[in-house]
Amino acid sequence: MSGFVEKPEPIQVPGLVHLHTGKVRELYRNEAGDLVMVASDRMSAYDWVLPTEIPDKGRVLTQLSLWWFDQLADLAPNHVLSTELPDGAPADWEGRALVCKSLRMVPVECVARGYLTGSGLAEYEETRTVCGLALPEGLIDGSELPAPIFTPATKAEVGEHDENVSYEEVARQVGADTAAALRQATLAVYARARDIARDRGVILADTKFEFGFAGGSGEDLVLADEVLTPDSSRFWPADQWQPGRAQPSYDKQFVRDWLTSPESGWDRGSEQPPPALPQQVVDATRAKYVEAYERLTGLSWS
Ligand SMILES: Nc1ncnc2c1ncn2[C@@H]1O[C@H](COP(=O)(O)OP(=O)(O)O)[C@@H](O)[C@H]1O
Ligand SMILES: [Mg+2]
Repeated sequence: MSGFVEKPEPIQVPGLVHLHTGKVRELYRNEAGDLVMVASDRMSAYDWVLPTEIPDKGRVLTQLSLWWFDQLADLAPNHVLSTELPDGAPADWEGRALVCKSLRMVPVECVARGYLTGSGLAEYEETRTVCGLALPEGLIDGSELPAPIFTPATKAEVGEHDENVSYEEVARQVGADTAAALRQATLAVYARARDIARDRGVILADTKFEFGFAGGSGEDLVLADEVLTPDSSRFWPADQWQPGRAQPSYDKQFVRDWLTSPESGWDRGSEQPPPALPQQVVDATRAKYVEAYERLTGLSWS
């Protein structure tokens, strides 16, 4: 079992048509036909959208994505049209609603990895490959890879796991030209972001992008969704990096640790939904998201 512990009721705004409830975002269409993407404070872990929100998370994700879109503008066009609040939207959408180009999304999670961990490590330990790419012997949890790799995954519905696929499988699904463009763009954006993060003492271990087309498939890919946030990326403090163990990271670590601790009383393997988070886990997680924003951008949050 997985999915939403409590399915949220989307807010209705005159002039906006509600299209979709994602794990974190609500999508609407405005009267001009553009997409209005509103990042909530929802938190997901272990394929569940938790019953507890993390205050300011939606705003942090949105502001950090906007900052990165600027850093990347010369490498990849992006979907952002405006940060202005749509007429009639609740004031509380300020800072977390974006008006975006409505794209024909490419149904591939474009993952770049510069370091080995997570599902990449699991596959490597079985086969010495990640997404079918051969890697050298002797790598351990947190090892830097000889060079960054493109490790695509298929996009899953809420509550399902994304599944790693080979480059050849992506080419079969979206065509050879689009697959090549996805790989090129993913690795180029990863390399730029990795260098920026490194200058700020942060390792960008891996990250996921989503791309779409504004027009026909022959056109340029447009970078969409969120980019280089703690929800879409593994950020590790560089001064604590130590291969051979799980790395401390700027994300849901507190949430995962608590959910899997005896204190939560939750059994990950059971059919039961996870419980509400205690206040100290909420506070520590909010602080991590804010710290990631401040560390990466060099700006202060409040
Ligand atoms: N410019 C865009 N045009 C159309 N769909 C988009 C665009 N940018 C992002 N999306 C989609 O919006 C949704 C974002 O909501 P989110 O809560 O992050 O969803 P998910 O549960 O899939 O992670 C995703 O399905 C993503 O593919
Ligand atoms: Mg998402």
